[in-house]
Amino acid sequence: MTNRNTSCFCSLSLLLATLAFHLADAAVPAIFVFGDSTVDVGTNNFIPECRGKANFRYYGIDYPGSVPTGRFSNGYNSADSIGGSGIIDTTGFQLFTKVVPMREQIQQFSTVCGNLTEMLGTEAAADMLSKSLFLISVGGNDLFEYQLNMSQNDPNLPEAQELLRILSSTYQIHLRSLYDLGARKFGIVGIAPIGCCPLERAHGTGECNKEMNDLAQAFFNATEVLLLNLSSQVQDMKYSLGNLYEIAYEVLHNPRSVGFKEAQTACCGNGSYNAESPCNRDAKLCPHRREYVFWDAIHPTERAAKLAARALFGGGAKYATPVNFSQLIGD
Ligand SMILES: *[C@@H]1O[C@H](CO)[C@@H](O)[C@H](O)[C@H]1NC(C)=O
Ligand SMILES: *[C@@H]1O[C@H](CO)[C@@H](O)[C@H](O)[C@H]1NC(C)=O
Ligand SMILES: *[C@@H]1O[C@H](CO)[C@@H](O)[C@H](O)[C@H]1NC(C)=O
Ligand SMILES: *[C@@H]1O[C@H](CO)[C@@H](O)[C@H](O)[C@H]1NC(C)=O
Ligand SMILES: *[C@@H]1O[C@H](CO)[C@@H](O)[C@H](O)[C@H]1NC(C)=O
Ligand SMILES: *[C@@H]1O[C@H](CO)[C@@H](O)[C@H](O)[C@H]1NC(C)=O
Repeated sequence: MTNRNTSCFCSLSLLLATLAFHLADAAVPAIFVFGDSTVDVGTNNFIPECRGKANFRYYGIDYPGSVPTGRFSNGYNSADSIGGSGIIDTTGFQLFTKVVPMREQIQQFSTVCGNLTEMLGTEAAADMLSKSLFLISVGGNDLFEYQLNMSQNDPNLPEAQELLRILSSTYQIHLRSLYDLGARKFGIVGIAPIGCCPLERAHGTGECNKEMNDLAQAFFNATEVLLLNLSSQVQDMKYSLGNLYEIAYEVLHNPRSVGFKEAQTACCGNGSYNAESPCNRDAKLCPHRREYVFWDAIHPTERAAKLAARALFGGGAKYATPVNFSQLIGD
């Protein structure tokens, strides 16, 4: 179970890393990443490294405001280390002794804001933050944990509708906090059809888990509403909501159209759908990674993540609304 969820908790990190990589040349002073990316406790030396480099190019995926080293691998490596948080404070604690919930990530970011202000002065810091991209991807872990709770017959478990209400109101509070700290450009990534990952197939009937997919879609719909709501309450907020559900769904249902040959079975693992045991050096490895959508029981292959990032960045309204990520940055 732990392994299963470790994988799940990490599933979005590669996409985020890839996305941020795509965005690296964009005209934003910084990209701050929040959500279910991992947390690198070694990156609290923000200011020393940052000094004299206000115009840093790459991104810090590990920690709110962490120093981008310019190395793509930095985000990628650390993405595999700890596990992720959710929207609600408790998510992740059941399986991991330490995750940093979204609320705490924002508190950490608030410290960074103070540091930036000290360094650059109030006006320049505010200006820099207002032009920065806030890349946020969160929620999947809450849904996985909800599924886990359901499997344990937790008597206090809310109904799905109630869960969604809690998630979206909590999410709105988090986004509002970031806005209040100076964030203006929000790149929000929705949840993939997590019910279709090899793991869900292996532990279920072999089909996509419809309940999980419905939850992911319903959460996307709720996010759309909350973003409209929030942006109507504050000034100068810009956002792009990426429909990762739609993007991934199309690939999963017509993998050949984009050059994949296998969209159900993981490339690396063992057992049914190659998703019943971890991807390690004893696992079975597929010969052609480029032909697989899934690397392991839940992570996309690098190629799949790149395709998704490209759609968010430059795709049409089906993939990102009301503007795509590229337009968000260009604004
Ligand atoms: C950032 O701000 C916090 C809180 O004020 C402070 O404790 C910390 O030393 C600062 N960090 C740097 C590197 O200036
Ligand atoms: C799952 O159950 C734990 C323990 O009861 C609880 O703290 C957590 O909030 C629940 N999470 C979800 C998403 O239902
Ligand atoms: C989400 O919204 C879409 C488009 O409005 C709709 O077709 C779909 O049924 C909704 N899904 C859920 C699960 O609410
Ligand atoms: C809009 O946001 C406010 C809080 O700012 C909240 O009370 C209200 O329920 C939200 N409305 C919807 C439709 O989500
Ligand atoms: C895969 O699983 C099968 C059946 O459990 C086992 O016999 C085999 O040794 C495993 N293969 C690898 C490469 O781990
Ligand atoms: C999305 O982004 C690209 C730039 O990458 C832009 O040229 C295009 O017009 C946008 N597409 C849509 C449909 O908004």
